[in-house]
Amino acid sequence: MTASTVHPVRLDLHTGERSSTILIAENIIDRLPMVLEAQRIGPRRFIVSNPVVWRLHGEQIQRAFGGVEPILIPDGERFKTLQSVSRIYDALIRANADRGSVLIAIGGGVIGDTAGFAAATFLRGIPLVHVPTTLLAQVDSSIGGKVGVNHTLGKNLIGAFHQPALVVIDPAMLRTLPRREFRSGLYEVVKYGMIASRPLFNRVAGETKAIFDRDPAVLGPAIIESARIKADVVSKDEREGGLRRILNYGHTVGHALEAVTKYRRFSHGEAIAYGMLAAADLAVARGALADSERQALAQLITLLGPLPPIADLPIAEVLEAVRRDKKVVHGRLHFVIAIQIGATMTVDDVTEEELRNALSRLGLKG
Ligand SMILES: NC(=O)c1ccc[n+]([C@@H]2O[C@H](COP(=O)([O-])OP(=O)(O)OC[C@H]3O[C@@H](n4cnc5c(N)ncnc54)[C@H](O)[C@@H]3O)[C@@H](O)[C@H]2O)c1
Ligand SMILES: [Zn+2]
Repeated sequence: MTASTVHPVRLDLHTGERSSTILIAENIIDRLPMVLEAQRIGPRRFIVSNPVVWRLHGEQIQRAFGGVEPILIPDGERFKTLQSVSRIYDALIRANADRGSVLIAIGGGVIGDTAGFAAATFLRGIPLVHVPTTLLAQVDSSIGGKVGVNHTLGKNLIGAFHQPALVVIDPAMLRTLPRREFRSGLYEVVKYGMIASRPLFNRVAGETKAIFDRDPAVLGPAIIESARIKADVVSKDEREGGLRRILNYGHTVGHALEAVTKYRRFSHGEAIAYGMLAAADLAVARGALADSERQALAQLITLLGPLPPIADLPIAEVLEAVRRDKKVVHGRLHFVIAIQIGATMTVDDVTEEELRNALSRLGLKG
């Protein structure tokens, strides 16, 4: 057992309006009620989860709380809707929840975003606690205060900023996570390495097996480092004025790939992996990144497993999707490029030609 079993790592996220505390420790979930009390959260608590997560971890949580009935939302991105938010409101109102009631989201990014939006809006906002159970949620979606749901016409179109009072991250919960979901989050960890930390990048590259085995001694520090990077960036720029854009590294092309394949072919992380490769290629082509650095990224991505094919995807369609994306401001493409592993800059003069060349070299259909 590591020392962190006893003393969780604590990160603080400060923004203009509110601050939130992030606690990270192996098996911290067993002590959740104590942790909440220590943070003066409660006493009226409502848990939101989904049947998959609850089947795997509900017993453990019920044991910790001495019995508790969760509000369950069906599993999957297609239930990240206003209708699910409405179901949460119904349950809260029926149970006479009030301003002092706390919503605890236990699940992946879908549960966190949906329950988070309910917490942001119910009675104009009640306290929110995130207990993220996917790697993506632990290093990304639970940190930063963005909450929201999808609309039939587009993803994440309805949302708010609502900083959680507390985020409780237990890496042990990831042991039940299917490998492809785990990999999806791992590409975001690689992203943090690319934008802010060569040691993190090297850790993933050097200890891939231990990470896939969910070895706490290796995975724990990678999660802590990733969460720290996200919390630091958000503390400096909550509303995405500038710095927060670096978190979008690899996401311009990644989002476009997801959109042209109707979100069916790639996991989010897999699309981001391609996006990072395209960004690195583009950076090398304009002389901003050494080719050896691009190769190190390509090697690591290969090491993490096979990616779905892209050879059939027309470059023109992907470029069209990039144009539609909100990252095109006044016709200019804001693009984050790594200038070395661990350091980035944002440029706003990327031409369509450069992007087309990068996509072509990536292997898309010309
Ligand atoms: N708010 C933000 O800042 C932010 C950032 C990034 C992504 N997101 C959102 O996050 C969502 C994606 O999140 P996700 O990747 O966690 O997907 P998800 O929530 O759909 O979880 C993936 C799958 O894993 C299952 N699962 C969760 N925890 C598990 C566990 N411990 N063991 C076994 N199975 C488990 C889920 O039930 C689901 O089937 C998207 O909707 C995306 O828009 C939000
Ligand atoms: Zn992402």
